[in-house]
Amino acid sequence: MSNLIVLGAQWGDEGKGKIVDLFAEKFDIVARYQGGHNAGHTVQVAGRRFVLKLIPSGILHPGKRAVIGNGVVIDPHALLEEIRTLEDAGIDVRGQLAISNRAHVIFPFHRLAEKVSENRPDRVAIGTTSRGIGPCYEDKIGRRGMRIADLLNPPVFDTLFRYLSEDKQTIARAFHLDDQLDLDAIREDYKRMAEQIRPMVCDTAQLLNDAIRAGRRVLFEGAQGTMLDIDHGTYPFVTSSSAAAGGACTGTGVAPTKIDGILGVSKAYITRVGSGPFPSEDHGEDGERIRKAGNEFGSVTGRPRRCGWFDVPLLRYTAMVNGFDSLIITKLDVLDPFDRIKVCVAYRVHGHLTTGMPAENALLEQIEPVYEEVPGWKTPTSSITRYEDLPAAARGYIAFLEEKTGAEVGCVSTGPDRTQTMIRAGSRMEKLLS
Ligand code: IMP
Repeated sequence: MSNLIVLGAQWGDEGKGKIVDLFAEKFDIVARYQGGHNAGHTVQVAGRRFVLKLIPSGILHPGKRAVIGNGVVIDPHALLEEIRTLEDAGIDVRGQLAISNRAHVIFPFHRLAEKVSENRPDRVAIGTTSRGIGPCYEDKIGRRGMRIADLLNPPVFDTLFRYLSEDKQTIARAFHLDDQLDLDAIREDYKRMAEQIRPMVCDTAQLLNDAIRAGRRVLFEGAQGTMLDIDHGTYPFVTSSSAAAGGACTGTGVAPTKIDGILGVSKAYITRVGSGPFPSEDHGEDGERIRKAGNEFGSVTGRPRRCGWFDVPLLRYTAMVNGFDSLIITKLDVLDPFDRIKVCVAYRVHGHLTTGMPAENALLEQIEPVYEEVPGWKTPTSSITRYEDLPAAARGYIAFLEEKTGAEVGCVSTGPDRTQTMIRAGSRMEKLLS
């Protein structure tokens, strides 16, 4: 019986939502381990489209548990709004969802603090989702944050709230931001929301470990992607949490010894939202074609995503950091119309060829991508349901990616629906999922 982690191998938006939703059938629990409502997982079930920001997509499967782990930061407004939307669709959210009492709480003043840091003239803007995610994690690491357990304890809440809100207001005033927050109203609002959330809150580390001991299977769902990980991503153009596989353990309280496999999700090309280096970005016509065909606009912010070609050094790096057992390649169908498909196979940095990932931003910005081209297949693939039925050139492209990255491609997705997914017979992925 395997407990698996599924996470993004690029800069997020790889299509994890659909994959987790599909794999959830085989698991008893789906657990989120980091991030907040900056994530946007789009899942399409029977023609209905759901955008899940905080709640793991396991919620869409009746009877499965969905867990928001301690590593997640929660904006109660966003959470309750999402719960309402799902309940309106007939989903038993309150019966299925468990929220960690150790997760941290996002307040409106976290968004204010983000505005301060993003607008400072001496600071490079990260292009965040403006959800207060970074400042909430700052308070967590600064050991002054508010956890869900504190939110549910009125005297503790009052003291912490006063301290945190005064702190943020002082900073806002120092930076001449005249946004007026009605702190009394916010306090009362949070107390009211705490009561709505209370019945779903528990020690989720205990819940997960008890379930694993009882032989239940857990799927750990990453948000964002490895290149946005606070340690391993393109710092400082990253999110403020541990999106890579290690985060699944710290973000849920489940030990590494309980994890049996790690699956990476990657698009057949690559995208990025927000600022930061992007070696294989295509600023020309092809990038625009990918954006249009792939509908590459942020599901949370609606921002157009930057688009480019599959990046082998990047994938090799994220495979190393995460120890991927197998890869899922999504949105292969977006490349259907292309005559030739470019793949970045190496980086040229100051005249030197490398397949490693530089740490310095200045170097990352100066990378010249080295491309190889493979023939396109020029045939629609979105209705194909067996890997063997893909056009030979499409299988050739997958084989090329496997050879260059050294990672197995165990699954290919050619559209947003659950049915448009092929797991390769005999693959390691098939074994891990069985
Ligand atoms: P933050 O997570 O809002 O602090 O934003 C930090 C960076 O991560 C920005 O470049 C965002 O665009 C990016 N980011 C955050 N969440 C996602 C996501 O779910 N998909 C893709 N990019 C994301």
